[in-house]
Amino acid sequence: MSTDRADVSRARRPAGGRLLPTSAVVRWLAGTALVAGSVLVVVLVAGGGAPQPSPAGLPDAGQLTGWALPASRLVADLAGITTLGLLLAAAVLLPSPVEQLRWVPYRGVQLAVRTAGVWFLAVAVEILFTISDILGTPVQQALDPVLIRSFVLDIPQGRALAIQALMAVLLAGVARSVLTTRGASVASVLALLTLTPPALTGHSAAAGSHELAVASLLVHVLGASLWVGGLAGLVWAAVGGDGLRHAVPRFSTLALWCFVTVAVSGVVNAGVRLGSFGPLVTSSYGVLVLAKTAALVVLGGFGWWHRNRTVHQLDARAQTSSGAREDVRVFVRVAAGELVVMAATVALAVGLSRTPTPVGSVVNTSPAAELLGFSLPPAPTLARLVLGWTPDGFTLALVVLAGLLYAVGLRTLRARGVPWPVGRTVSWYAGLLVVAWATAGGLGLYSHVLFSAHMVAHMLLSMVAPIGLVLAAPVTLALRTLPGPRVPGELGLRQLLLAVLHSWPVRILTQPLVTLTLWVGSLYGLYFTPLFPALMNQHLGHVAMELHFLTVGCLFFWVLVGVDPNPQRWHPLARIGLLVAAMPFHAFFSIAIMSSATLLDGAYYAALHRPYSVDLLADQQLGGGIGWALSEVPILLVVAAIFVQWVRADHRESRRLDRTADRAQERVLRGDAGEAAADEPDELTRYNAYLAALADHESTSRRDGPHRR
Ligand code: HEM
Repeated sequence: MSTDRADVSRARRPAGGRLLPTSAVVRWLAGTALVAGSVLVVVLVAGGGAPQPSPAGLPDAGQLTGWALPASRLVADLAGITTLGLLLAAAVLLPSPVEQLRWVPYRGVQLAVRTAGVWFLAVAVEILFTISDILGTPVQQALDPVLIRSFVLDIPQGRALAIQALMAVLLAGVARSVLTTRGASVASVLALLTLTPPALTGHSAAAGSHELAVASLLVHVLGASLWVGGLAGLVWAAVGGDGLRHAVPRFSTLALWCFVTVAVSGVVNAGVRLGSFGPLVTSSYGVLVLAKTAALVVLGGFGWWHRNRTVHQLDARAQTSSGAREDVRVFVRVAAGELVVMAATVALAVGLSRTPTPVGSVVNTSPAAELLGFSLPPAPTLARLVLGWTPDGFTLALVVLAGLLYAVGLRTLRARGVPWPVGRTVSWYAGLLVVAWATAGGLGLYSHVLFSAHMVAHMLLSMVAPIGLVLAAPVTLALRTLPGPRVPGELGLRQLLLAVLHSWPVRILTQPLVTLTLWVGSLYGLYFTPLFPALMNQHLGHVAMELHFLTVGCLFFWVLVGVDPNPQRWHPLARIGLLVAAMPFHAFFSIAIMSSATLLDGAYYAALHRPYSVDLLADQQLGGGIGWALSEVPILLVVAAIFVQWVRADHRESRRLDRTADRAQERVLRGDAGEAAADEPDELTRYNAYLAALADHESTSRRDGPHRR
């Protein structure tokens, strides 16, 4: 049943109407803005990020730019976080029937259209003041279209801000048309993506351990935005009169994850910039980081209060409407205070991002360090390959998250007393270990500098780790542990996952021939096109290659040996056929590399000036050889796995048939043969029925002669 705007706007208003008058909300907003603004000013002054007049003769952007730039960043952050929060509340926090958002979540989405507009404007203003700041000219002179054009097209920071501004406009447009939780979910994901571009440039990009700095800040900003935004969305809904009985427990779980994520990623990010413990107390940057830590502890206290007081109270007295509204009022008061602390912490963070870091912008001393973002590792040894490491923040964050989510799923099943094969758990963590080693371990380290190690890492990511991951049945675990609908008609998280799994993009992506094409095509599409050099020269390009190989590997091996329910599962023989079909392509690819006389990305490897494995072509050919040899192992593993699954499936089927036949036999022995045959004919019964039909047919044709039909 399609939903239109009229339907939603006719939706039932919450009983009892708004909890607080708009004037109270406006007063709170003004107060929070004042607190956040004051914190920003104090931090800039105390941290050394406040605008200083430039020495005579040097360009000076002026006071206006010095204050307006961080202020526009703060407004952009808070507008973005609020937009995400309002959409998140409508999509997953506040229960709504599938086909149509309820009144309060719908009003929240409508408000998100406007906050996304504020977000766009704030980022646009930030672009102008950033140009003024970089050029050291007053902002009026930055209003030059040529300057703006080259800033947003040629400068990474400018590109990131321009992309964020455009995505904010797109988001406003998408949110305008949202009428269902599905629509709100899509808009929430878009809001999360819109928060990311600035985290990929700015302070982090200039820090040492580039990938770790960028990845930890990205995870940090997303964690903080989900936490702060989620709470803002809840408070907004409560003020609008929503009961929150179902929303607060769900937010509480999300908040706990965000608290841990923000703490860990914040400490990692601060660690990269501080370089050591000393500057934590000796530098203004360090002192601000301590202030943020204190803010996190305070927010942790608020979280504890909610988990031990608010959640229970809301749940206990929701039945008796008399107390419920008062409890929501108490929740709103506490949460409103919490949000002020959060807004102040975001202001502190923006001030921090304008504060000079103790390590300063790292000046890479060698072309290799410039290219790698870390210094060239010494010649590889077995010990260094096995025990070495490189801070590849993105994949490390993914591995840790995947490990934690699987553990939470196991804990949920254990709490319900539902057994889970230990083989699957071992397989999952073994797969994650391979991913961690091939990206952030010794192999990951050398995969940046040696083509041969690069090839081994990719073989492990596209062929070995996926086997472990798909044999662990992660989708089944998720379907068994994700919460279902909280109110009748709601799209629970389990239903949301099922809807995604049955969606046409997933159906196409898991089509066996499509997975084969992606798996084999990726090798040729990457290494024999300019894509490889383009990606190898970018830190994020390297991460993109790693994630791509892992993803297409998981898709291909999920089709071949995945344990999860798969509507498009082929017969074991056909699956072996699919694997055999892939082998010549793989072998040809490796032979092509082994026999190639041209370097695939000579410029990159030459620029490293490695004092070892100096023969670049020999290293490349070694990579091809290893690729070929290595590919045999997983293929044999998979053939074995398909056979084992086949035999097991056969056994299961014959056990099922036996059970059915036994049951039918029991019924026959109990004398109710007719009934047995009627409702659950076993194979034997079906076969007898077939023979009987055959006999009937023959006797009829014999009686009536050969030509009468
Ligand atoms: C242990 C506590 C925390 C630590 C160590 C920490 C550390 C950091 C660091 C080092 C940065 C990068 C600043 C830069 O670019 O130089 C940052 C940014 C950020 N932090 Fe935190 N943080 C912590 C807690 C929080 C909390 C509790 C929140 C929000 C409630 C938060 C929100 C943010 C935001 C939004 C940014 C990005 C600011 C921007 O550049 O626009 N952080 N944090």
